[in-house]
Amino acid sequence: MQYASVNPRVLGYLGRALSHELSAVQQYLTQSKLVEAWGLLEAAGRLRDEAAEEMGHAERIISRMIALGVAPSASQLRPAQFGASLAECLHKNHRVELDAIALYEDAVRYCRRIQDQENGAFFETLWNEELAHGREMAQWLATAESATAEGRRAFF
Ligand SMILES: [Fe+2]
Ligand SMILES: [Fe+2]
Repeated sequence: MQYASVNPRVLGYLGRALSHELSAVQQYLTQSKLVEAWGLLEAAGRLRDEAAEEMGHAERIISRMIALGVAPSASQLRPAQFGASLAECLHKNHRVELDAIALYEDAVRYCRRIQDQENGAFFETLWNEELAHGREMAQWLATAESATAEGRRAFF
């Protein structure tokens, strides 16, 4: 156990990261079940995959905390956010991804400042994955929004 050697702000970032990832799991699983009830089975499967990906991030953070001798203690699970359409749900998810990007960017910058290479590299990998994730979510949102607009045109 190396409690004394770990920078408290780095531990803070790990705790916030775990809370973030577990909140994302809750949100994406909730939306998966919601859109499944709307009959959108493909979107439900994709949201389930997103939840699994965020669970993988949570796993890696827990492993990192254990390696540092710290007990994982995510304390603030954010309530799942959703909407009245797939596009509205994806809009909320895009926000979640932007929050993750900002959190990991902050963590990377702090680790660089204190020259903590090991944790800096750990956060940087997550940052890059969330950047890609954010771009994918934005593309999916754009597709869902244009499908909604098409549907409206066809309807009226
Ligand atoms: Fe994540
Ligand atoms: Fe993500």
